[in-house]
Amino acid sequence: MAPLVSASRMATLLGDFDRSPAYLGLAEALRLAVGDGRVPFGARLPSERELTTALGVSRTTVTRAYALLVEQGYAVTRRGAGTFAHVPGGPDRARDRALTPRPTRTVPRADGLGDRGGLGDDDLVDLVCAAGSAPPGVAEAYAAAVGDLPAYLGGHGYFPTALPCLAEAVAALYERRGVPTSPDQVVVTAGALAGTAIVAQAVLGPGDRALVENPVYPNAVHALRHAGARIATAPVAPTAWDLDAYAAALRQAAPRAAYLICDFQNPTGHLLDDAGRERLAADLRAAHAVPVVDESHRDLLLDDGPMPAPFAAHAPEAISIGSASKAVWGGLRLGWLRMPTAATAELVEARLGLDLGAPVLEQLVLTRLLATWPEVVRAQRERLRAQRDHLVALVREHLPAWRFTVPRGGMVLWCELPAPNASAVALAAERRGVAVSAGPQFAPGGGLDRFVRLPWVAPPDELERGVRRLAAAAAEVDGDEPRGSGRPAAPVLVA
Ligand SMILES: Cc1ncc(COP(=O)(O)O)c(C=O)c1O
Repeated sequence: MAPLVSASRMATLLGDFDRSPAYLGLAEALRLAVGDGRVPFGARLPSERELTTALGVSRTTVTRAYALLVEQGYAVTRRGAGTFAHVPGGPDRARDRALTPRPTRTVPRADGLGDRGGLGDDDLVDLVCAAGSAPPGVAEAYAAAVGDLPAYLGGHGYFPTALPCLAEAVAALYERRGVPTSPDQVVVTAGALAGTAIVAQAVLGPGDRALVENPVYPNAVHALRHAGARIATAPVAPTAWDLDAYAAALRQAAPRAAYLICDFQNPTGHLLDDAGRERLAADLRAAHAVPVVDESHRDLLLDDGPMPAPFAAHAPEAISIGSASKAVWGGLRLGWLRMPTAATAELVEARLGLDLGAPVLEQLVLTRLLATWPEVVRAQRERLRAQRDHLVALVREHLPAWRFTVPRGGMVLWCELPAPNASAVALAAERRGVAVSAGPQFAPGGGLDRFVRLPWVAPPDELERGVRRLAAAAAEVDGDEPRGSGRPAAPVLVA
């Protein structure tokens, strides 16, 4: 059954809206709330009568606003059933098949949640992609940035390092985090992954070794390999970083660069503390390895307490990679590099071999968002905290044999299964309508078929459907022969 958004909940979600005229302001506020997912796709909207009372507006205002919403494709009405949230193009507009596999269901639904006899697109639960919807305020930032745009239209629009105002805003972000940074040390990229590719081109030559954690975010490994690097791995334990093992791998591999994710490591979710960063920085310095530090998840601390200092505070020679994708929205496609002054020329040259700069409009949007960053990020964190807690409770209830450490932040739960059959569970899960990533996808050194990564970015009802289906799949596979997995997984597009 479609979830219902009550009138009082809707009034809270909409907040203050423009009342000149009220029906237009209400329609716009509703459109934004549906568009950015605060009102989930398919949810039943409150009746006109209830919303009229809750908002203290006239019935005509609500009727006209709903009619406009339907006309714009952000709601559909079903005779006798009510008005339901929709988006133009349907839910598919939010997905790319390269990121989210589209399963073909071949077994009947076993979770009792309404088998429709075939898996429709909107029936798939995506627990692969660790990237959430945009927080409130993004559409408004775009609208305001369009107003800023004319000042740039007289020029050629190419900014191979960064739009000056954005470079200043990113430098100020690092200053606030205790790392003195001038705008000249900032290059804005098309996301953190593009940033990783640029660093790989600049720092690594064919055959150079790059040390990565195992498990690790697979697309970064792909970017390093693409630059010709040979990959060496250092194990990260399921419960914490293993700094001794890291130091041993460093000695053995003698890498030119080390790609690290110290802030809510993807996929384990670990956060390396200051003492650990200090030690790692010293070990890397002693090994003459360039630290390449992916800080994509840095803003997603979900529990109380301070964040450790950025790695660059411990290692001034580090190249830091940031992103707006996790804190705000992947669709912005913006990230940045913060580098030591000495590395600037090399990195800018590498960037010019890939592209000539990021889009001006998006850079203006990010500049505006950075102006109220703590507020923007707070909304994202609040939603993610609730979803993390919900996912943790669901896995404990439905998959009690699965073990995990609850991360203090980030977007994913790294679950250890009782048997090394995660790939088989993922296959069975796919047939049951939930897509998950098994450990081998994150294992450049092979193995890890005892693990499954579960992102908590989906809304609570979707998480629940997904975990129930996953539990049914795990039960089905339980008792299977362990599947050997000595082969490294092929590059995959998991976020
Ligand atoms: C560690 C890490 N780096 C980079 C990315 C990609 O970020 P972007 O969208 O900024 O390219 C992700 C996305 O999941 C990630 O987890």
